[in-house]
Amino acid sequence: MGADTHTQTGAGTRAHPRRGGDAPRSVTVLGSTGSIGTNTLDLIARDPERYRVEALTANANVDLLATQARQFNARLAVVGDPARYGALKDALVGTGTEAAAGPEALKEAAARPADWVMAAIVGAAGLEPTLQAVRRGATVALANKECLVCAGDLFMREVATHGATLLPVDSEHNAIFQVFDFEQKARVHKIILTASGGPFRTWDRAAMTSATPDQAVAHPNWSMGAKISVDSATMMNKGLEYIEAHHIFAMPPEQIDILIHPQSVVHSMVAYVDGSVLAQLGTPDMRTPIAFTLGWPERMPAPVARLDLGAVGTLQFEAPDDARFPAVRLVRDVLKSGGAAPTILNAANEVAVAAFLDRRIGFLDIAALVDRTVSRLQPRAAPTCLDDVLDIDRAARAACTELVAAAAA
Ligand SMILES: NC(=O)c1ccc[n+]([C@@H]2O[C@H](COP(=O)([O-])OP(=O)(O)OC[C@H]3O[C@@H](n4cnc5c(N)ncnc54)[C@H](OP(=O)(O)O)[C@@H]3O)[C@@H](O)[C@H]2O)c1
Repeated sequence: MGADTHTQTGAGTRAHPRRGGDAPRSVTVLGSTGSIGTNTLDLIARDPERYRVEALTANANVDLLATQARQFNARLAVVGDPARYGALKDALVGTGTEAAAGPEALKEAAARPADWVMAAIVGAAGLEPTLQAVRRGATVALANKECLVCAGDLFMREVATHGATLLPVDSEHNAIFQVFDFEQKARVHKIILTASGGPFRTWDRAAMTSATPDQAVAHPNWSMGAKISVDSATMMNKGLEYIEAHHIFAMPPEQIDILIHPQSVVHSMVAYVDGSVLAQLGTPDMRTPIAFTLGWPERMPAPVARLDLGAVGTLQFEAPDDARFPAVRLVRDVLKSGGAAPTILNAANEVAVAAFLDRRIGFLDIAALVDRTVSRLQPRAAPTCLDDVLDIDRAARAACTELVAAAAA
């Protein structure tokens, strides 16, 4: 990418000059204690002179947050759980790091003036903090796909209004971003999201009935947080990514395909009207897409295993099986029906996944209860503002919690 290239999102195009000079780049990592957060800090730690850490946030993991704040000399460290404020403050005694806690402080962390913000809080809890970064026109590296599932139209509108630069971190969307010709968008025939198929790719439904949380989080190719690992096992993750792709690339649902690719080498593809198909490939390591966003608009080195296609040997592809993994069909239907359905689906899925991880419901109950929650609350108008999103999210959580209780009884 050269000087004066353009940073594009589905919402528009924005001039973005090559980053120059030796001034350190100020960065904030929302969700710094998670899988994406620690991978981000791993990259930053390899070239500390280049970055100045403004804020780091966690939900409950005070020990790791305080260790990170000390290591990176962060100006602010925020823990989401207000009850942990005292522990965080004590852990930061003698450092120059300010401590804060609670949902408002998370938003304040994102509102602080950092050039680059990694949005890696899991779930809809990441929406309001991420919007704060968007609203001050920051460069936002977006890992938190739930923002786009629960509030996609609103989120992309805010990106356009405030001239924020949105860089997708999800490996599939990052891959598409790298090969998507925004100047000839009308010449894009399809985008093709690849999916590993998760740990139960070859399992039949009978076996999945008794799948345990430990089995579900044991992803064959990627090391990730618990929620996204379960989402991968149900294939709800690919559904969420389908909605995410629809918003980031402004592509209609019928121009988005999903293809199972067990090796997770081809991270996604863009097919053009002339028959060309462009793909981005690499070993499955999130530090590659994170580095793409951290270095943007230049490429930076990432300490990942190099792709050796000769050693990989065979790349397989197959169509998804909607009968064994109904979540994909459910999300397609939800996107088609529109209205509040995606917001409801996202909230219900968070509740159902948490219940499964707590061993209160079975693996197959996850998609079934999400489906029932969507049916119970629909039709409902699409949210037009943040308050609408939060209201719908609350209603869906309450409805799905009731269904979980009934299923667990
Ligand atoms: N992991 C991946 O490879 C990957 C790939 C693509 C996309 N993503 C997306 O990136 C996001 C993060 O995933 P992850 O795997 O890194 O998750 P994770 O390991 O579970 O980490 C989640 C982070 O968010 C914090 N957090 C959790 N609940 C919160 C709340 N209510 N308020 C504030 N902070 C909260 C956690 O803090 P504590 O540590 O204190 O709980 C942690 O820092 C998800 O949206 C996921 O879909 C992840």
